[in-house]
Amino acid sequence: MINVVILAAGQGKRMHSKLPKVLQPLAGKPMLGHVLETVAKLPDVSRTVVVVGCGADAVQAAFAGDEKLRFALQQPQLGTGHALQCALASLDEQAEYTLVLLGDVPLVQPETIERLRAAAGDGMAILTTVLRNPTGYGRILRQKGRIVAIVEQKDATEGQKQIREVNTGIMLLPTARLAGWLSELKTSNAHGEYYLTDIIGLAVRDGVRINSARPRRSFEVEGVNSKTQLARLEGIWQDHLAEELTESGVTVIDPSRLDIRGNLECGSDVVIDVGCIFEGHVKLGDGVHVGPYCVIRNAEIAAGTRIEAFTHIDSAKVGEGARIGPYSRLRPGADLAGNVHIGNFVEIKKSEIGEGSKVNHLSYIGDTTMGAGVNIGAGTITCNYNGVQKFRTVIEDRVFVGSGTQLVAPVTVGAGATIGAGTTLTHDAPADKLTVGRARQTTIEGWKPPVPEGYTFVKN
Ligand code: UD1
Ligand code: CA
Repeated sequence: MINVVILAAGQGKRMHSKLPKVLQPLAGKPMLGHVLETVAKLPDVSRTVVVVGCGADAVQAAFAGDEKLRFALQQPQLGTGHALQCALASLDEQAEYTLVLLGDVPLVQPETIERLRAAAGDGMAILTTVLRNPTGYGRILRQKGRIVAIVEQKDATEGQKQIREVNTGIMLLPTARLAGWLSELKTSNAHGEYYLTDIIGLAVRDGVRINSARPRRSFEVEGVNSKTQLARLEGIWQDHLAEELTESGVTVIDPSRLDIRGNLECGSDVVIDVGCIFEGHVKLGDGVHVGPYCVIRNAEIAAGTRIEAFTHIDSAKVGEGARIGPYSRLRPGADLAGNVHIGNFVEIKKSEIGEGSKVNHLSYIGDTTMGAGVNIGAGTITCNYNGVQKFRTVIEDRVFVGSGTQLVAPVTVGAGATIGAGTTLTHDAPADKLTVGRARQTTIEGWKPPVPEGYTFVKN
């Protein structure tokens, strides 16, 4: 078994933001959320402790739903060594190892942690990496190949600054030794902090073997201290997600113009055009085609459906062979059956739309149960709200609603009925009949338009 401690108490000054650093979103999720997602995939974790300090309340509130998490408060923040010390009381002493992760190194993957565990043997292990530009990171000092110390940027000599192997901050440490080592840390360094990295020297003294492992991909160990680094890592991560999709057979027209903030599950022969954003959990069935510049969140789109350009879908379901857009908006609770057509400037909310029904132009359908084979004319509006309460509209199978109609809920249109264009329907309309509710058209004979004073007609 292992303990996991995530250091997340630092202020993150270089973010220039009121939001605590570890809550800054990467791919739509707080950085700390990414770390916790990785932890959730590790086998035999005994306890997970998050060390909080700056913005502790906000960080705790953001993850309050996770009952297995423990929080340890570090106040004030005296360095990474002090942070781990604050977590000691929350650890499972029986767990042989304690894994240290950093809340601002969000993308480390479970397989890399497994490598670290394999490397530890009966000693300990540090995840290191070699960087072209190691500025800012702690450098790994080796003697005869073995790690003997980590020296921080500010404390490094010019010679040590040339070392390109760096500390990622991620370590696997023997739990039984921690309390002793941490109590020996000193603040005699450039930052005046208790450096966790100083335990390396203590481990060497105590004859504990220090091994190292490397991540498979370099983005896994990139630390984020500024918005510039955050944006850079976002780009790298998005490239990675796009590549996973194309490798699995999805046609992504331009992988650099796709954003996934959550998880996207795709069937075979899915095509995604440029500029689309997927959020939360989205499932696209076989042969689904998503046109350019669509935003799709928490939705399920069944096989063969085409989503045309500039469509917004949020918490909705679309059946097979449907055609949505361009410029459609499906809001929460829109549940569309197969072969439905939703066209431009149509908004659907909390409504079931039956098989093959069509709402093709400029309409609002809310709180509605619509049957199959219905045709809704342009500019139809369900008036579902009286300012206080919401009411439902029922439109049964095969109804034809003429253009410019208002359906004042609660109201039911019987199967096979036709509603004449321009009707304001305030009472139920019977099945199979034509119902029209509009003023009769009249023409006024001898009417002349008003003429402004001093205006004369010019005849030619
Ligand atoms: C740290 C390491 C450095 C490593 C780098 C990798 C130390 C002394 N340095 O430097 O060797 O190369 O990470 O990214 O460990 N934190 C606390 N409490 C504190 C201070 C920090 O919880 O008192 C947390 C921060 O919230 C952050 C993490 O620890 O998540 C790292 O702290 P940060 O100040 O960013 O350390 P670096 O200078 O990046
Ligand atoms: Ca950092």
